[in-house]
Amino acid sequence: MGSPLRRKHPPHAHLAASGRPSRPGLEARPGDVPAAGTASRRGRAFSAGRSSSTATSTSPSPPYGAYWRALRKLCALELLCGFKVRQLAPTRDRETMSLVREVVRRCSGEGPVVVNLGELLVSCASSITGLAAFGDRCSGDLMEQFLSAISVVIFNISGFCVSDLFPSLWISGGTGTVSSTAEWVMAELMKNPDAMVKAQNEVRRAFKNIGPHDHESQMEELYYTRMVIKETLRLHPPLPLLLPRVCRETCNVGPFEVAKGSRVIINSWAIARSPEHWDDAEKFKPERFENSMADFKGTHFEYLPFGYGRRMCPGSGFGISVLELMVARLLYYFDWSLPDGMRPEELDMDMTVGASAKRTNQLHLVASPYEVLMDL
Ligand code: HEM
Repeated sequence: MGSPLRRKHPPHAHLAASGRPSRPGLEARPGDVPAAGTASRRGRAFSAGRSSSTATSTSPSPPYGAYWRALRKLCALELLCGFKVRQLAPTRDRETMSLVREVVRRCSGEGPVVVNLGELLVSCASSITGLAAFGDRCSGDLMEQFLSAISVVIFNISGFCVSDLFPSLWISGGTGTVSSTAEWVMAELMKNPDAMVKAQNEVRRAFKNIGPHDHESQMEELYYTRMVIKETLRLHPPLPLLLPRVCRETCNVGPFEVAKGSRVIINSWAIARSPEHWDDAEKFKPERFENSMADFKGTHFEYLPFGYGRRMCPGSGFGISVLELMVARLLYYFDWSLPDGMRPEELDMDMTVGASAKRTNQLHLVASPYEVLMDL
């Protein structure tokens, strides 16, 4: 297979197509290292047990060694632990309310105004992650320059290379993954009006008669809305290919032999859309999680939006807490419609893969403030 980076379609879609039942295994050579791709849960289970990441001069991953362990520990203990996530509640509260106010400001003119929601979500997620990383002491301008420098580099590395910039990744990761997921959530809800009504009713019930400062304490009540987020992450994981692993010893996966030293690429996007594991796999059905044990912990191999094992996303708690509040407030404070009489089925769901997978065209919607705006 030629380099996926030169192909027109996103790498994960190519790998999935090449790995259809007639060719369930896949040989690829994106650089100098032979690679085995897996788009099946069984293949993934193998790599969990037998491989880990290593670095070579051509490897896109940070060295799996003392440096990587120290950085990861630093992230886990100082930046992304449960305590820190709780400590950041006022920042989440303030910045997501700023998002709401900005939408109100933009749509306060005469008649319906189309809002570039995608752009606003990126800006909100950058502020929250930037404030979490730098605190209030760093000026907004400096932070913006830093984030935009990183995003330029990250956009250019694309596809297989996500973590070259590991120390900066936690900042850019927090921005791109969260905002793109929130944008997909809103796009899926626009395409599925019944789900929108259900989620919106739930949020409005839960937030009724309480002040904005208490919104986050109601998140546990948002059972359906959280399933909407889960289902969105199934269909649109921001990292469709997990970080590459390197096989430590030759072993068999089903009928295929994977040689020691092969880079194993896990296509979590394809696994999460596989009819082998999911009914109506391509359909947006939040209810499917009602009786499912699949969660974000990386122990259910058919559902790995945050990866699994020692390379699993250290920012999942932080990311989900921002995502839930962002989505809940957008649903609470506004009614949403598509611009120019567009029908739900006409809304495009095209995706572009850079450092993360996001909508090719930013989501533009018409916001109509809901009556509770006197809260602001
Ligand atoms: C919706 C939100 C997010 C999703 C879906 C997501 C998903 C992922 C995935 C799939 C991986 C690769 C895991 C693997 O290969 O097993 C990853 C790695 C990573 N993520 Fe996230 N992420 C999110 C938010 C965040 C946030 C908010 C941060 C930090 C603030 C963050 C920081 C990182 C870092 C540092 C790594 C690399 C870990 C390593 O190299 O060991 N992520 N993320």
